Amino acid sequence: MRSIILILVISVAFSRSEDQEIDYESLRAEIKSWEHKTVVDLIVEDGYPVESHYVTTEDGYILNMHRIPHGLSGKSNGKVAFLQHGVLESSADFLISGPGRALGYILADEGYDVWLGNFRGNRYSRNHTKLNPNWGAKFWKFDWHEQGIIDLPTMIDYVLKQTGVDAVYYAGHSQGTTSFYVMTSLRPAYNEKIKVHVSLAPIAFMNHMTSPLLRIISWWDGPLDILLGLIGMHEFMPSKIFLTLDSFICQGFTKILCENALFAIAGFSPAEMNMTLFPKLMAFTPAGASTRQLLHYAQEIATVIGHFRQWDYGPIINLAEYGRTYPPEYPLQKVTAPVYLIYSKNDWLAAETDVKKLHKHLGNAQGLLLVEDHGFNHLDFLYGINAYKYVYPKVVDIFDIY
Ligand SMILES: *[C@@H]1O[C@H](CO)[C@@H](O)[C@H](O)[C@H]1NC(C)=O
Ligand SMILES: *[C@@H]1O[C@H](CO)[C@@H](O)[C@H](O)[C@H]1NC(C)=O
Repeated sequence: MRSIILILVISVAFSRSEDQEIDYESLRAEIKSWEHKTVVDLIVEDGYPVESHYVTTEDGYILNMHRIPHGLSGKSNGKVAFLQHGVLESSADFLISGPGRALGYILADEGYDVWLGNFRGNRYSRNHTKLNPNWGAKFWKFDWHEQGIIDLPTMIDYVLKQTGVDAVYYAGHSQGTTSFYVMTSLRPAYNEKIKVHVSLAPIAFMNHMTSPLLRIISWWDGPLDILLGLIGMHEFMPSKIFLTLDSFICQGFTKILCENALFAIAGFSPAEMNMTLFPKLMAFTPAGASTRQLLHYAQEIATVIGHFRQWDYGPIINLAEYGRTYPPEYPLQKVTAPVYLIYSKNDWLAAETDVKKLHKHLGNAQGLLLVEDHGFNHLDFLYGINAYKYVYPKVVDIFDIY
């Protein structure tokens, strides 16, 4: 019953965005023309130097990192930037807006050696020394906890070794911030390897978030196999029915957005959407994730007080796994690297209350910055028309301090 009410809520949420006069058949054709392209193609077409690096984690996942060693002028400031994408995203998301507008290119032109991570399970890191991602459960048994305690340290150590610096300038979006808090709280030695961290749309506590699709997942009170049937048993592959939900409301431009799992979950603001970029954006997202990444967030959303804690197996297995009936909190006071949080009012996932709570708990929070444009949404931090005006200058200024 609760689920049906939620489906209605979704329909209303999507009906808020006005439809535009758009020939969406030709739009679909344009999206298709981008679909075979990779991040490397993207960077080459934009005229920047690019390298592709592979690094294998201790548990066998082969991660593909991308590097823009310098910008167009070739100038270097001797600093290394590390950019980490969020859930259902990839390294492409820091580049899609193009030169002069995307954070990856802006930092390269500022003189940074820019490295872009890709977490296990996304389209560039859907690979393993032994496990096959197409053969079911084992490959996909991870969430942002493992991405935080294994993938991030592996990638950061690799970057430090390749570049010879002793710490990176880290900017993360969404789950690229969650996993950062996981890493630095549970493996505090890694705080030393971070000059400064900037969180874009920070996610730790989540019980105030307003994304209707994530609410459905977190409030689901029916049988688990039905839910997994709708959103994907192991790899997150939501059915069209689940995403579109209401084909009467999702028409034209909105229809394409409704079918995109990333936008369906994170929301969008038509005013910030650059239609020139739209086909590219739809081709590069969503980039893949495990179902457990979403379910772990759903567990957080479902808690009334709001916890930022490890996977909840249920009381009996928790007792065996953690020695207590509920999962341990991530000890955020151990995050001693300097952290700046940049958030916005209209973010479906990073609610202001939750961001402020995170700010209070972090061991070394240095700044809490609100984006001036109150219509700014979760994904506008990456693709918004005004991200290069409202957000990235803040990142550059903060990096400059350290
Ligand atoms: C949309 O993106 C393109 C490519 O980066 C850019 O040239 C154009 O100015 C953008 N449009 C707006 C309204 O910002
Ligand atoms: C997976 O990694 C192996 C070993 O590095 C490589 O040979 C193979 O091409 C990769 N497969 C994919 C789909 O990337």
